[in-house]
Amino acid sequence: MPADTNAAGDVFGGWLMSQVDIAGSIEAHRYAQTRVVTIAVQEFLFLNPVFVGDLLSLYAKIVHVGTTSIRVRIDGYAQRQRGSEETHKVTEAQITYVAIDENRRPCPVVKRTGA
Ligand SMILES: CC(C)(COP(=O)(O)OP(=O)(O)OC[C@H]1O[C@@H](n2cnc3c(N)ncnc32)[C@H](O)[C@@H]1OP(=O)(O)O)[C@@H](O)C(=O)NCCC(=O)NCCS
Repeated sequence: MPADTNAAGDVFGGWLMSQVDIAGSIEAHRYAQTRVVTIAVQEFLFLNPVFVGDLLSLYAKIVHVGTTSIRVRIDGYAQRQRGSEETHKVTEAQITYVAIDENRRPCPVVKRTGA
């Protein structure tokens, strides 16, 4: 949306980062089944600009599960015009989340079947 643009009129990188963080956290939470928080961003690439009106699709995949942490890779694609097949890869990121308990302390991630 226009409110998400930078001074040059492209979608602000920070907006994209927040969407990617949300997408990764959904996947980490789906696996951990407990609250997760973002601890670190290993990689964040802006490969192509995102424009107002683009349809953004984010795909998240777990790449590493530690004792309390889960690293997720997120790939993002922008569809330039609704109804068109033209898509551009706009971002690639790896973010680590930590599972936390009710006291906000790291807690072990338990592997669930089917996850
Ligand atoms: C997340 C938090 C609870 C971790 O507490 P902590 O005492 O530092 O935790 P630990 O040192 O035990 O590390 C926890 C896990 O994070 C990993 N970790 C720590 N620093 C890391 C880094 N720089 N990069 C990647 N992973 C890291 C550890 O390896 C560990 O994973 P493992 O158990 O799978 O081996 C604490 O740092 C915190 O509350 N941070 C703020 C989170 C936040 O507000 N995020 C933004 C909004 S969601």
